[in-house]
Amino acid sequence: MAALRSFLVIICFVVVAATSMMPTSAQLSSGFYNKVCPQALPAIRKVVKRAISHEPRIGASLLRLHFHDCFVNGCDGSVLLDDTANFTGEKTAFPNLNSIRGFNVIDDIKKAVDKACYKSVVSCADILAVAARDSVSILGGPDYEVQLGRRDARTASVNDANRNLPPPVFSFSQLLSNFQAHGLNLKDLIVLSAAHTIGLARCTTFRARIYNDTNIDPKFAASAKYNCPTTGGDNNTRPLDSTTRRFDNVYFKALLQQKGLLHSDQELYKNNGTDSDKLVLKYSRNSESFAKDFANSMIKMGNIKPLTGNNGEVRLNCRKIN
Ligand code: HEM
Ligand SMILES: *[C@@H]1O[C@H](CO)[C@@H](O)[C@H](O)[C@H]1NC(C)=O
Ligand SMILES: *[C@@H]1O[C@H](CO)[C@@H](O)[C@H](O)[C@H]1NC(C)=O
Ligand SMILES: *[C@@H]1O[C@H](CO)[C@@H](O)[C@H](O)[C@H]1NC(C)=O
Ligand SMILES: *[C@@H]1O[C@H](CO)[C@@H](O)[C@H](O)[C@H]1NC(C)=O
Repeated sequence: MAALRSFLVIICFVVVAATSMMPTSAQLSSGFYNKVCPQALPAIRKVVKRAISHEPRIGASLLRLHFHDCFVNGCDGSVLLDDTANFTGEKTAFPNLNSIRGFNVIDDIKKAVDKACYKSVVSCADILAVAARDSVSILGGPDYEVQLGRRDARTASVNDANRNLPPPVFSFSQLLSNFQAHGLNLKDLIVLSAAHTIGLARCTTFRARIYNDTNIDPKFAASAKYNCPTTGGDNNTRPLDSTTRRFDNVYFKALLQQKGLLHSDQELYKNNGTDSDKLVLKYSRNSESFAKDFANSMIKMGNIKPLTGNNGEVRLNCRKIN
């Protein structure tokens, strides 16, 4: 009995010691706001729901904002910062300029969540992660538990955005290297690219593909050219897949038919037996495994280099540092 008790005491000691030695500052958790503001997550979802019913595309735009946040020095809300005298922010970086959207919705969410919490406790970086999850879920995708506790950056860098965000002209190996540089693997690349199951792209991002790529369905290319001439019409948009308001696996089915809209999309499937091809084929046939793997990869992407503990801050206004 005494031996058992001292054994338990030792176990407790070891557990406590191990926990206190852990770099708790790098740890996110799903219950981060449970005590300080249990109303936070429902308040965010309410605004996302309203915004999507007003404009379905906004769900896609919110999902993309989280991706563009996480890929530039981690998920730290840097993408939301306006330019200041001290730095040029990420909004004018090539992949973002005239392209990323949804900032007004983020402002609306921040106001609503601060009101629901009676104080500013929820970071803009966490708002991006939750709004992305809610958008996916509302549009018919998986509803997963978001990890929380990110804090907001006090700076942003246009050069880092240009260096880190993958452009649509990238080849398969460039896309894979880019994802690997962010701690993500081939499977993450395939499932996360399927975020293009929702939303639109501008002519300027797919013109080279529809005029010059050879691994493209001719009828599909012809129909895309109609609204995307060789010169002019840069801002004309086209759905990234044929069910653009529905988070489903039609994106993968389109790749099998050489109907990927972006060059980078079709790079994932070339029908020559690669591991990438095999994953595309699998997800085109199995929407459940796509949903499950998408949720897991989103959580993984959301864990890229967060600021935690006393690092960074909780911004009062998502567009400016405090
Ligand atoms: C694999 C590399 C990727 C490339 C090269 C890429 C490129 C692009 C491009 C060029 C557009 C159209 C932008 C415009 O018209 O201005 C776009 C849209 C979009 N991207 Fe990606 N993307 C990639 C990965 C991702 C990932 C990982 C996500 C999210 C998890 C994502 C989510 C979206 C969404 C939702 C849209 C539509 C946005 C809207 O309609 O407002 N993309 N992407
Ligand atoms: C720029 O940085 C300096 C020094 O950190 C600070 O005092 C100043 O308020 C900053 N300016 C802006 C516009 O953020
Ligand atoms: C495209 O739209 C942006 C605003 O989003 C505008 O500044 C730009 O001039 C437009 N480009 C063309 C070619 O119409
Ligand atoms: C297609 O390729 C040709 C030859 O490289 C190039 O001159 C042309 O600008 C390209 N067209 C588009 C729309 O990118
Ligand atoms: C598949 O095709 C692409 C382009 O057509 C080529 O770059 C790649 O090496 C091929 N892979 C295999 C395994 O044949």
